[in-house]
Amino acid sequence: MTVSLDWENLGFSYMKLPYRYLATYKDGKWQEGGLTEDATLHLSESSPALHYGQQAFEGLKAYRTKDGSIQLFRPDQNAERLQRTADRLLMPQVPTDMFVEACKAVARANSDYVPPYGTGGTLYLRPLLIGVGDIIGVKPADEYIFTIFAMPVGNYFKGGLAPTNFLIQDQYDRAAPHGTGAAKVGGNYAASLLPGQYAKKQGFSDVIYLDPATHTKIEEVGSANFFGITKNNEFVTPISPSILPSITKYSLLYLADHRLGMKAIEREVLVDDLAEFVEAGACGTAAVISPIGGVQHGDDFHVFYSETEVGPVTRKLYEELTGIQFGDIEAPEGWIVKVDEN
Ligand code: PLP
Ligand code: COI
Repeated sequence: MTVSLDWENLGFSYMKLPYRYLATYKDGKWQEGGLTEDATLHLSESSPALHYGQQAFEGLKAYRTKDGSIQLFRPDQNAERLQRTADRLLMPQVPTDMFVEACKAVARANSDYVPPYGTGGTLYLRPLLIGVGDIIGVKPADEYIFTIFAMPVGNYFKGGLAPTNFLIQDQYDRAAPHGTGAAKVGGNYAASLLPGQYAKKQGFSDVIYLDPATHTKIEEVGSANFFGITKNNEFVTPISPSILPSITKYSLLYLADHRLGMKAIEREVLVDDLAEFVEAGACGTAAVISPIGGVQHGDDFHVFYSETEVGPVTRKLYEELTGIQFGDIEAPEGWIVKVDEN
């Protein structure tokens, strides 16, 4: 470890690290990619990514384990989601091997910035795929850039494993019923900026969106999926074609079922039935598991477990998930990819 940072209090901010990966797609194929120290992208002013949002991104983390090694959590799942997003936006797929090897290369090259074990910090990797080139009509690009940059991060929401409050939004949607909600594209986040800013100004951590067709069902948080725990020890998470299929959420569904003896269910969650949940949380790569204390919906304020205490099931899920990610608890097969340092 040669750099010295306040590892326990990193927050979630951009930091320019020494190395990033970059590959270009030209003439119908990916060209040989590699690491670069140049943190600036060079692209045509008419690139479709800039005008028509032909772009996609991902988010995953590298973890420092107790023995000092570095590992990734389910990077193949991020590769596959990026492939599904690429299909939706008519972009070329990044092959899984290329994606995973590039993640490893970025983590390895910036290993001095992978926070020490026990600080709670991680190295956040941000893969980005953009359509570039001289095109002005509304059509897909012929050329693409795939890059992965990284930065050390701490908590996304205030306090980490501490309850915070969220605002249920009836006025704005982040995605259309048959739009791009299930794809990880910048446009969904552009649509969430205004309602997100409003919620934060009111003191909430983020917005919880409702289904865009009827506004009767919980969809997801602006930056994470939603889950609730019923009094019958069920782990419930909304099913909908317009939410982002969270890798953390699917991991928790598996762990709740296989490790914690719970019933794990994906189903519709009615906003009028929130009282069925004794605990609730937001889950995602950046959010990890962030307990939801209370939710404001119109004039109603509903508290799940407590505004100040973490519920016991949420805590157990957090310990199981992060125990696996940091290498303290045995992972289900294929979930952990080691980054060899040499
Ligand atoms: N939902 C949204 C809108 C997100 O931005 C994210 C973050 O990636 C998630 C859910 C969680 O997905 P994952 O667990 O794959 O990080
Ligand atoms: C993530 O958790 O990786 C995200 O993409 C969420 C947010 C930072 C947009």
